[in-house]
Amino acid sequence: MNHKYSNEFIINIMERAIELSKRGRGNVSPNPLVGCVIVKDGKIIGEGYHEKYGGNHAEKNAIENCIEDPVGSSAFVTLEPCCIHSKTPPCTQLLIDNGIHEVFIASKDPNPDINGKGIEQLRDNGINVYQGFLDEDVSKLNKGFFKWVKEGLPWVIVKIAQNQDGYMGVNNETQTWITNEESRENSHYLRSKMDAILIGTQTARIDNPKLTVRSVNGTNPKRIVVDLNRTLPQDINIFSDNEAETIVLCSENLFDRNKTSNCKYIPVEEVDSKMNVKDVMKKIANEGITSVLIESGPKLIKSFDQHKLIDEVYIYSSDFDIPHSSLVNPLRLESEWLLKSNKMLGTNELQVFKRKELCLQE
Ligand SMILES: NC(=O)c1ccc[n+]([C@@H]2O[C@H](COP(=O)([O-])OP(=O)(O)OC[C@H]3O[C@@H](n4cnc5c(N)ncnc54)[C@H](OP(=O)(O)O)[C@@H]3O)[C@@H](O)[C@H]2O)c1
Repeated sequence: MNHKYSNEFIINIMERAIELSKRGRGNVSPNPLVGCVIVKDGKIIGEGYHEKYGGNHAEKNAIENCIEDPVGSSAFVTLEPCCIHSKTPPCTQLLIDNGIHEVFIASKDPNPDINGKGIEQLRDNGINVYQGFLDEDVSKLNKGFFKWVKEGLPWVIVKIAQNQDGYMGVNNETQTWITNEESRENSHYLRSKMDAILIGTQTARIDNPKLTVRSVNGTNPKRIVVDLNRTLPQDINIFSDNEAETIVLCSENLFDRNKTSNCKYIPVEEVDSKMNVKDVMKKIANEGITSVLIESGPKLIKSFDQHKLIDEVYIYSSDFDIPHSSLVNPLRLESEWLLKSNKMLGTNELQVFKRKELCLQE
């Protein structure tokens, strides 16, 4: 490596670029979060991030924000610059045209049209490129985007509130409040990092949730409800409060794709009077949704689990006693799962599990 910066300096600037990238959260999907910092003679002269889908890429915003001529400077960017014409011109050309001398990249772009080709194009034009700084942090931050690009499926997290005996409520005809205020705030933060939240018909009917991020700052994700026969009443919160877009997944045997003033209807394959859960995830991905939080009851969670469609599980447990309870958490988080973290939220405990093969890939 013949660049003039120390490893510590590069990591510090890349951390800054990652922080900037997070400001795009909630507005860029299905694009990734990307940040960029321009440095000249050891001093930051420009910063930018991808602010919204269809808008300028991070590199363009950083160059436009430069307070000095960027010729001869170094660009620090969290994802490999694009080399294709998409909604905006290629960033590689922009860096070449602006006389950038060298580029530091955290992660390669998994998109096969770019993967490595952006780096190659920069090098072919005399720009020194160094890649691999904090690349794991960037791929973790963009895990939805990475999975969506590689597999055509969203990153799926299941959230469960239960008591210490593993009960999610009294029964599936009753709403049961199980966890505390800290857990609620934490789960709203989790929601704010996702593109969409999915619930089942029965949860929509019994709990009538809003599925917003109201106790934290952030953008409300889209709301998706499974409703094969379109029997849910139109006055429930997700149809009537205008807080976020709502998508109804219905049977393709009965309905066409269409849209009303309060929701969008997307037909999904039906098998034995149930939704084909694999098709559910494919249809969601086709909408440009790269991450989904399932907040349904046990029936739907079990169906997604049986088809190994779940990547992570967040379990919020309380010491709440639920007399005569029968609504059991259906997940057996044993050999295929790894406990990634656990912490106390007041008297509640939050445990985060991840599928083992995903942990090994990290
Ligand atoms: N503690 C928690 O974390 C938590 C979270 C959410 C909900 N809940 C509680 O859970 C209860 C509802 O649970 P639930 O399990 O009955 O409802 P659910 O999982 O929210 O929804 C299940 C319904 O979805 C429909 N469905 C369509 N395709 C399906 C498929 N492939 N697999 C499974 N279901 C499919 C079926 O409705 P149709 O037969 O009408 O088509 C099914 O009855 C409520 O009491 C609610 O309060 C607890």
